[in-house]
Amino acid sequence: MAEVVIVENAAAAGALVATEIVELIDRRPDAVLGLATGSTPLPVYLALRTQLAGHDVSQVRGFALDEYVGIDPAHPESYRSVITREVVEPLGLDPRRIHVPNGAEATIQHAGDDYEAAIAAAGGVDLQILGIGTDGHIGFNEPGSSFASQTRVKTLTEQTREDNARFFDSIDDVPRHCITQGLGTILKARHLVLLAFGEGKAQAVADAVEGPLTAFLPGSAIQLHPHATVVVDEAAASRLRLADYYRYTFANKPSWQGI
Ligand code: GLP
Repeated sequence: MAEVVIVENAAAAGALVATEIVELIDRRPDAVLGLATGSTPLPVYLALRTQLAGHDVSQVRGFALDEYVGIDPAHPESYRSVITREVVEPLGLDPRRIHVPNGAEATIQHAGDDYEAAIAAAGGVDLQILGIGTDGHIGFNEPGSSFASQTRVKTLTEQTREDNARFFDSIDDVPRHCITQGLGTILKARHLVLLAFGEGKAQAVADAVEGPLTAFLPGSAIQLHPHATVVVDEAAASRLRLADYYRYTFANKPSWQGI
């Protein structure tokens, strides 16, 4: 099962995951990070600003999970813009080493295959950061996505469009299609770190970690991964049946292990 770490708040989660990433980069200067968008990973990126100071990040590589189809890359809410604003610029990463799926309509038919080839050429993702949607989606893999799926175009559910409308002037501006790493792509990363905060994510977290394996709840795919870590606050952990066991396990974890 995934290791579940219950922390006091989002800032503590950010600090914990940032420490793991800094150790990875120190060990492997050209580490390949799997970058997620949405509000959930922001505390990690914020903590990295401080924790990475003085460390060499010039070789760090990265692959974003997903992108909207047909959005102008310069639009402030394209995932290309979000990754540039929240990750590349504040952390001083080399933009040429940070990749985002290409959502341009002209090349969309082979954009998924191109992205898979680029990840493979980089040697795969070392640490994949993940959020989770209220319907259990990871990346933009909506309910029903195959556990074997690769990077491809998906149609967003109305719920996801409504959830993401807060970033746009109106829901009519939220694209209907996206290009996302598949669940099979995500499962190839060497370490998955899924974060979730707040009561609104509690059911999705419980279903992903303790529910049955089902494509209907894409986050449950993490149960197939040999090294998956779920970092949640108390509210997001509130529906976990084995919460006490997770607390006990983490409190008694050997210090050499990391997350
Ligand atoms: C979007 C992203 C996902 C993210 C999800 C949750 O759909 N494509 O990668 O996990 O939103 O967003 P938030 O973290 O803002 O709750």
